[in-house]
Amino acid sequence: MLHPKIENALNAQLAREAAASSNYLAMAVWCDQQSLDGCARFFYRQSDEERMHMMKILHYLIECNAAAEVPGLQKPAAAFPNVQQVFHAALEQEQAVTRSINELVELAQECSDHSTQHFLQWYVGEQREEEATVTKILDRIRLIGDGSMSLYYIDSEVEKINAQVLASETEA
Ligand code: FEO
Repeated sequence: MLHPKIENALNAQLAREAAASSNYLAMAVWCDQQSLDGCARFFYRQSDEERMHMMKILHYLIECNAAAEVPGLQKPAAAFPNVQQVFHAALEQEQAVTRSINELVELAQECSDHSTQHFLQWYVGEQREEEATVTKILDRIRLIGDGSMSLYYIDSEVEKINAQVLASETEA
């Protein structure tokens, strides 16, 4: 039986993962409409991944015989000034999710909930990887600069990084 504080916090996290999935889907659509196919593929995959993060929490709550609420969704931002800002928004989102996962781990420790601490360790590792991937993309964007072909090069780099992420997920 989960402590009510843990049950509430996991449901709140479930809603954050759903929102992250929706936000990434909107970013994918924006990139697709700009013909940034590599960036679009990155965000479509990322949106699917966030939905999987949500589903893992949902199944954990059900396994623990706890309340599991399917969250309503707010309309995500659909317009962006440029592709650089899309990736900045993605990093901010990941940093916020990392903070909430860390708070959840601390709550599970306070409640001596070893099962939830163990469950959350997967998310701790996942957040480290996701922040590192988006940071790498932003570093590449900075290196590429603002030249006339910059969008083409950014899209190619993101396509490559997305392929690396997919390959590492297949190996795992
Ligand atoms: Fe599941 Fe990247 O937050």
